[in-house]
Amino acid sequence: MNLVPEKKANPNIKRVVGVISGKGGVGKSSVAVLLAEALVARGMKVGVLDADITGPSIPRLLGVDSFRAESDGEHLIPIESEEGIKVLSINLFNENEDEPVIWRGPLLAKAVEQFWTDTEWGVLDYLIVDFPPGTSDIALSAFQQIPFTGVVVVGTPQDYVSMIVNKSVKMAVMLKAPVLGFVQNMGTIICPHCGEKTALFDDGSNSDFRKLGLPLLADLPWRKELAQARSIRWTSLGTAVQREADGLANEVELAIAATRQSAANA
Ligand SMILES: Nc1ncnc2c1ncn2[C@@H]1O[C@H](COP(=O)(O)OP(=O)(O)O)[C@@H](O)[C@H]1O
Ligand SMILES: [Mg+2]
Ligand SMILES: [Zn+2]
Repeated sequence: MNLVPEKKANPNIKRVVGVISGKGGVGKSSVAVLLAEALVARGMKVGVLDADITGPSIPRLLGVDSFRAESDGEHLIPIESEEGIKVLSINLFNENEDEPVIWRGPLLAKAVEQFWTDTEWGVLDYLIVDFPPGTSDIALSAFQQIPFTGVVVVGTPQDYVSMIVNKSVKMAVMLKAPVLGFVQNMGTIICPHCGEKTALFDDGSNSDFRKLGLPLLADLPWRKELAQARSIRWTSLGTAVQREADGLANEVELAIAATRQSAANA
């Protein structure tokens, strides 16, 4: 079986960044949205493709959950958020956002393919793809269809030790998607009194992200404003979170530049 078929390029989309994780609940969608909004704040044109077909959370996070996406008969038309981010998610086609998607694997994979190939994305500097957790059918299909410029791996300290993260990373590598680096999420807390950052796990323990052997793109602390938020809107974020998200966007841009440089030299 050829795991890596010819991927379909879209010349209007300059960079495609996947956000992957070993398991759910580690903050993958939150990181995808923070990255998208930080890139917009840097003047980029950005879209978000919600490939987490059975657990879509992007429309809410970007505040477009009351909208319904449409088709012009040939193409799917993304919804645009207030920040100007183009969004496509299965939930934008459901009558009620709490309806489960009860399709079998091949149809789910087809949905991801359509979101990539049959969508009027327009010209984008970045398309961010929020993956489903782990190495499901849908994840495989996304890797097979979409020519990723790179992928960002999100995890929490409890997650590093699990071989599940490694499985996701290996899937990306096998399917020729360059791994840009790792985002540690919720690994530290900030003292509300003095602002000091405290690691929730000791360095050198099994929870050390360095065991993954990936460059660290960001170390995002646990933030009350993210835990409580129904949506993540750039203008309502505190400056500390904005700074952290901008740092992540900066590292992603640098990592992509380095990846392209080494590909050009190869
Ligand atoms: N840095 C953070 N600080 C506090 N809460 C967070 C942070 N990142 C994510 N969360 C919360 O953790 C939960 C899971 O995040 P989510 O982005 O939905 O994860 P995933 O997409 O990996 O399932 C959500 O309730 C989210 O608000
Ligand atoms: Mg999610
Ligand atoms: Zn303190």
